Amino acid sequence: MSVEPIRWRGDALELLDQRRLPHETVYVTCRTAHEVADAIRNMIVRGAPAIGVSAAFGMALANQRGDDLRFAAIELRDARPTAVNLAWAVERMLRASGDPKEAEAIFREDLEANHRIGRFGADLLGQTATVLTHCNAGALATAGYGTALGVIRAAVEQGKHIAVFADETRPYLQGARLTAWELQQDGIDVTLITDNMAGHFFQQRRFNAVVVGADRIAANGDAANKIGTYTLAVLANAHGVPFYVAAPISTVDIATADGSAIPIEERSASEVTDIGGWRIAPAGVAVRHPAFDVTPARLITAIITDRGVLRAPYDESLRRAMS
Ligand code: MRU
Repeated sequence: MSVEPIRWRGDALELLDQRRLPHETVYVTCRTAHEVADAIRNMIVRGAPAIGVSAAFGMALANQRGDDLRFAAIELRDARPTAVNLAWAVERMLRASGDPKEAEAIFREDLEANHRIGRFGADLLGQTATVLTHCNAGALATAGYGTALGVIRAAVEQGKHIAVFADETRPYLQGARLTAWELQQDGIDVTLITDNMAGHFFQQRRFNAVVVGADRIAANGDAANKIGTYTLAVLANAHGVPFYVAAPISTVDIATADGSAIPIEERSASEVTDIGGWRIAPAGVAVRHPAFDVTPARLITAIITDRGVLRAPYDESLRRAMS
């Protein structure tokens, strides 16, 4: 595995600073739960499983320092609202009284889940395929290997000829900065496009599949993921291209009935008005910045989980996979 986003040192957590990629590979050391919560808020670490795993180690740090676990749990859980993996990992750590071994288990299980997702998902791709992906659902977004990019990695490992088109993913540019870099590191064929080029390439029949990650999957199969994912699902549907969501079971929130109840994070206006620190938009302009959108279950061909490939009706297949 080429990319190590999260390193546990026994008494400190090292996080690869994703804000500085692809130019620099620098680790930030966190020694308290508060520092981990800050790292999650500030996007040093991002991606649903990766923030869950990091929060678990944040709880372990709180336990080791004798800090108030309930207080740490609230701060970590509230760092970002959409990815359910965060609350899931914090709850699990509370039940284990912040035992570092539990955090290590969460890390290990996520890594194993991604390899299983990869194997299940790779079977859905042909011997030669071009896959469109959005944001970064790779090693960087998880304990390692990735969910959507795990599917691509596994297919490549099986000897399949996979070309990837990566959406740049405005406004935070996870596709351009992270996915393009991560796939390059592994020598996987990757082509970067801007988000508004996707429709053109669908028309040209360039894509055999779309594979994306998820931040939260509701009980009915509606899936929240990076803003712009819904647009791709509509395009895929209009062009008869399969649209796959790859995610571990820890991303499923059976307590949320459907996508309308998923909280959508609104991030800073400056991420929209500026690019790479350069102001693009006029001063005073009104800005909206929902960081995620919800793809309705009816547009999802299958959900690739670590417990198998789930198909509609998702309320049934998800419930079965969870039990
Ligand atoms: O804002 P981000 O970069 O944390 O958003 C990440 C995504 O939307 C990913 O697709 C999702 O978390 C799945 S990562 C395996």
